[in-house]
Amino acid sequence: MVKIAPSILAADFGNLGRDVGALADWGADWLHFDVMDGHFVPNLSFGPPICSAIRPQTKLPIDVHLMVEEPSRFVPWFLKAGADIITIHVEAEKHLHRGLQQIREGGCKAGVVLNPGTPVVAAKEVLPYCDLVLIMSVNPGYGGQKFIPESLEKIAELRRMIDERGLATDIEVDGGINPETAKLCLDAGATVLVAGSAVFQANDPKDMIRQLRCGR
Ligand code: DX5
Ligand code: ZN
Repeated sequence: MVKIAPSILAADFGNLGRDVGALADWGADWLHFDVMDGHFVPNLSFGPPICSAIRPQTKLPIDVHLMVEEPSRFVPWFLKAGADIITIHVEAEKHLHRGLQQIREGGCKAGVVLNPGTPVVAAKEVLPYCDLVLIMSVNPGYGGQKFIPESLEKIAELRRMIDERGLATDIEVDGGINPETAKLCLDAGATVLVAGSAVFQANDPKDMIRQLRCGR
């Protein structure tokens, strides 16, 4: 089953409660929450208080993508703020193994994130501790960027690695997802697609989410 995770980075922040509340009606599966610290990535976004504030506005799982230096520092904050899934970048965390266990012990699903320049093998040793691996298909920091086509080979390689070990790890893809790139990612073995601008700039977000599933 394909899961669609709209990124609220592309929502109308002046009407955030309204947009968050609409996601379930539009057929979304998860809410993707992009946290940026101005260090690991150039941009700033939002943090735990906004996560707590939107928690009562939706029943969808909140998928927190930590684009911050030393992300495990913030794990306790997001566990408390109502996150369901927390992912940490391999490039930003010295103690990946410990960070992932901390997330699972807190009752959330855990995952690692790979930047476009990071090889898939960087996730290999921690794969048994991951419920998902997130492949960045743009350089993190901004919404609305163009999909990097080389990401497809990384998705396929990760799919082989997961299947060879008989694991059920989800493969999430983030950045530049539209109905065309969605199909390519799903064909390569992805199971979760993040989409910011495609969903929030669509005239009919419900129909866009349906299209992103590519009939699966
Ligand atoms: C990028 C973020 C993405 C972003 C995706 O740094 O991690 O989640 O919101 O936006 P689109 O779908 O517009 O590429
Ligand atoms: Zn993201």
